[in-house]
Amino acid sequence: KETCNNESLENIANKTQLDEIEAYTSQLFKIKEVLSRNHMKVAFFGRTSNGKSTVVNAMLRDRVLPSGIGHTTNCFLSVEGTDEDKAFLKTEGSEEEKSIKTVNQLAHALHMDESLDAGCLVKVFWPKTKCALLRDDLVLVDSPGTDVTTQLDSWIKKFCLDADVFVLVANSESTLMNTEKHFFHKVNECLSKPNIFILNNRWDASAAEPEYMEDVRKQHTDRCVDFLVEELKVVDRAQAPNRIFFVSAKEVLNSRMQRAQGMPETGGALAEGFQERLKEFQNFERSFEECISHSAVKTKFEQHTIRAKQITETVRDIMDQINIAAADKRVVSLEEREYLLDRLDFVRSQLNLLIQDIKKKIEAITEEVKHKVSDAMAEEICRLSVLIDEFRADFHPSPHVLKIYKSDLLSHIEKGMGKNLAFRCSDAVNASVQSSQQNMMECLKPLLPSAAQSQLHMLIPSRKFELSYDINCATLCSDFQENIEFQFSFGWTALVHRFLGPANAKRALMLVDQTLPVHKSEICVSTEMTRVTVDSRTPEQSLTQEELMMSMVSNLASVTSRTSMSVIIVGGVVWRTVGWRLIALSMSLYGVLYLYEKLTWTTKAKERALKKQFVDYATEKLQMIISFTSSNCSHQVQQEIGSTFARLCQQVDITQKDLENDIQRLTDKIQKLESVHKRSKVLRSVIFILKKDFLQKKNTYLNTSKLHSDSLLYKKVK
Ligand code: GTP
Ligand code: MG
Repeated sequence: KETCNNESLENIANKTQLDEIEAYTSQLFKIKEVLSRNHMKVAFFGRTSNGKSTVVNAMLRDRVLPSGIGHTTNCFLSVEGTDEDKAFLKTEGSEEEKSIKTVNQLAHALHMDESLDAGCLVKVFWPKTKCALLRDDLVLVDSPGTDVTTQLDSWIKKFCLDADVFVLVANSESTLMNTEKHFFHKVNECLSKPNIFILNNRWDASAAEPEYMEDVRKQHTDRCVDFLVEELKVVDRAQAPNRIFFVSAKEVLNSRMQRAQGMPETGGALAEGFQERLKEFQNFERSFEECISHSAVKTKFEQHTIRAKQITETVRDIMDQINIAAADKRVVSLEEREYLLDRLDFVRSQLNLLIQDIKKKIEAITEEVKHKVSDAMAEEICRLSVLIDEFRADFHPSPHVLKIYKSDLLSHIEKGMGKNLAFRCSDAVNASVQSSQQNMMECLKPLLPSAAQSQLHMLIPSRKFELSYDINCATLCSDFQENIEFQFSFGWTALVHRFLGPANAKRALMLVDQTLPVHKSEICVSTEMTRVTVDSRTPEQSLTQEELMMSMVSNLASVTSRTSMSVIIVGGVVWRTVGWRLIALSMSLYGVLYLYEKLTWTTKAKERALKKQFVDYATEKLQMIISFTSSNCSHQVQQEIGSTFARLCQQVDITQKDLENDIQRLTDKIQKLESVHKRSKVLRSVIFILKKDFLQKKNTYLNTSKLHSDSLLYKKVK
């Protein structure tokens, strides 16, 4: 049942087999019960009022069962002997012993019990001391008339399958009816060759018409023989007459009761020919006893053991089928599990290899992107002046306009650079991202089941991958400070700038501004150029290279101031040498140059100057973020490819989990199949033992039946 109901075992035992086994089990139980029972069971059937109950009473030599005109017996009544002194009855499903004293009481008890229906069994236990027949462990079963029921099938199942002998009580005043025949046909379908006796009861009625008696007897006999031989095929034609009797149960019962009461047997009003009818009843009883002792025993044990043998063989075959199916399925499941284990192993090892490989590939791509972006940025920085030149906006040196101008310039640069970088890199980066994603998918595809393979492309993002360069010029160049004040190119500051470079010039000029007044007041000429003593410094402090430079510049300045006196002296000397005209010419040329420069210092020139300053400033700043921006871009690529790879790996993980679950399921299935295999083997052995047991019982009983019949014959002789 467990195997059949277990769907995972794929019907190695099917419902038909289960139904068969269940049906056989109940049959075997019944057979076992019959075989283990030490009494014989005789069942009386026939139409109502044919005299079934009277026949049973006549055999028991007492009015044990109620009989009478009309439909008297309303349920099955079994009569068996008890060692107790008093009679009692038991109804079905109850172990309570209800006491009865007389037939009337029994009839009353049966009549009063409303729970009884035609399919019920009431067991009457009659003291063995009162009835010799019951001492031989005989059970007589009286039944309601076969014509009053529609439940023939259930009756047969319940009361006939274990009956050893059937007695059909017919009415000799009429003929064998179809309802009676039909019932025995059904019995014959269930039992092979049942032992059947036909009693043509009420034969006393023939005494009224003695001239037809023989004809009627012959007519009845022929019909009964035909019924037993032709229709039921339970006996051969020679044996059939020995199973047909013409009796009067009522007369027999009356005479036996009279005799029991010490009265003469013929004391009652008995019809003519009573002695013959009594003899015939006795003949029936003798044949019946012989049947019980010989053929019934034979039938009982032989038929039932043959049936049991057949059943055990059929069940054994079913067990064999289940056993073979379980073994086959186990082999298939083992192979399947082996395959799945191999597959799991393959998926695991391949995944590890692929992870290493793809990690390297991702590293290579990100490195490539990093270089690409940093190269593109370097180029764009070189082209920054072009980009800034392209910028057009209203320019005015007033702080407010300047502020707006600079902010627009910054957003122009940000936008322009972003666009240019995207133009240089995005397509290539996108292509390499896509190809690497495609490549990953192709690599992981063989690790997935075919259903998942077709869904795999959905895991790769369909949108185009866009790099975000995120230069953020506004923050980067926030502290840009332009210098658009007019500066004469041959002025003192400009010259210092030209000779020392912008950074050093600035510091030098600041230093000159601080130190010059001191030196001017001291007007001391120091020829020592390598070491300078500043007020706040101690002589022990050594000077750095920059400080050395500063001291040089300051000395230069001091020399300049100190030489201003000398200039005047030299000027006087030059005056005297080249003449005042040359000096005046030089001075006027210097003045014209100054004027020219001052006049050309227009707003346009200021804008140009600002742009130029901005180019220098932004170039410096942007160069600082090249590596940061390229790293950021490569990180984005890594994220993009990495997340796709993670999604793909997740699918492989699911596949691995599925494989593990399948393997576990198969392991369980294999265990169950092994258990079914073992249990079916055990059950097969059990069935074999059962069969042997049945056969052994048969032999034992056949031997004892001989003893039993001997004892019955011995009783007869006595
Ligand atoms: P149900 O229990 O109703 O099915 O009937 P039954 O077959 O048990 O018949 P039962 O023994 O109750 O007998 C019915 C009637 O027939 C009774 O009045 C009996 O006395 C009578 N009867 C039985 N046997 C004979 C017989 O051989 N000759 C005559 N004349 N009457 C009989
Ligand atoms: Mg009856």
